[in-house]
Amino acid sequence: MPPIRKKRRVRTAIVGTGVGLPKRVLTNFDLEKMVNTSDAWIVQRTGIRERRIAAEGESTIDFALAASRQALAEARVPAEEIDLIIVGTQTPDMVLPSTACLLQARLEAVNARPFDLKAGCTGWLYSLVVADQFIKNNPSLKALVVGAELLSRSLDWEDRTTCVLFGDAAGATVVTGRRDGRGLISTCLGGDGSQWRALTMIGGGTMHPPSHEMVDKKLYAARMEGNKVFKLAVPVMEEMAWMVLTEGGYRPEEVDLFIPHQANIRIMESVAERLGIPMDKVVVNVDKYGNTSTASIPVALAESSREGRLKKDDLVLIVSFGGGFTWGGALLRW
Ligand code: UT7
Repeated sequence: MPPIRKKRRVRTAIVGTGVGLPKRVLTNFDLEKMVNTSDAWIVQRTGIRERRIAAEGESTIDFALAASRQALAEARVPAEEIDLIIVGTQTPDMVLPSTACLLQARLEAVNARPFDLKAGCTGWLYSLVVADQFIKNNPSLKALVVGAELLSRSLDWEDRTTCVLFGDAAGATVVTGRRDGRGLISTCLGGDGSQWRALTMIGGGTMHPPSHEMVDKKLYAARMEGNKVFKLAVPVMEEMAWMVLTEGGYRPEEVDLFIPHQANIRIMESVAERLGIPMDKVVVNVDKYGNTSTASIPVALAESSREGRLKKDDLVLIVSFGGGFTWGGALLRW
């Protein structure tokens, strides 16, 4: 009798990554000239030193496109082979159509099903988990999962409590099924809509439609109860980490690289400390880019991969948290 070959389980794996960033750098010292703040306050409270800001005429799609082209090239997947495009964003180019539709057209990804997904800063992780469900049904499916954000267009540049925190960026990933043990081991998602008031951009929707009053009152701008968000983010991110680690059968000390959402260095340090993961295993880009919302994790993945920090078969832990509230975690073998 011929030997029975055990077929390995299909896992959704990231096979290409890319980054799209505006050229313009806005430093804390530039901000000192714009609002009543200081480099010392921003660095000490957030870890941010500078962020990228899109130029006039640029919009979310420009960075989503640059990141996607890189990710497709790295994955060696032609655009017409992409079956699904999901863009996690709070700051789409237009209300209709979605940024994913614009991306499909620019890439000429004619066979893709495009849609945007809104889940606060957790949008890329939610999109990854949605793509994972498609791939579980059809392991050869190829998805482009993007986090793209131009929060600079939704900020009140006179409000020092928010305008110093955010930056513009896009990160893209190509994902598909693999049978070699690499890919997603476990994921979890959660949220608490009852706390939506803690982080909002309330203007421009059906409740506060575009109007002169809406603009005058700057209702389009991001507002955040920062301290409340901070206090909830730390235990929830820790819980997400334990959930995916436990489900996967791993301990924190087995993690090779920890990629938390880049909102604040103090949040990242607290979560890492609670998990017992040393900071040299934690990816930090908040100093260079600020909080780029949905883009922060895919940008961190792409840069870690290019810098050689992320190696084949590394165990990678991802956790995220954002407005909504929404949150989630993922454990994967790179
Ligand atoms: O990505 C989505 C999720 N978002 C987050 O996870 C963000 C979570 N929150 C945070 O990162 C922090 O709460 C912030 C960085 C937003 C704020 O830091 P904080 O240590 O919580 O400061 P605070 O809000 O308690 O403010 C402390 C003081 C206040 O002054 P008083 O009332 O003590 O006199 C603020 O008015 O700092 C003042 N302040 C500033 N001072 C200089 C607030 N913003 C600034 C500023 N420059 N930019």
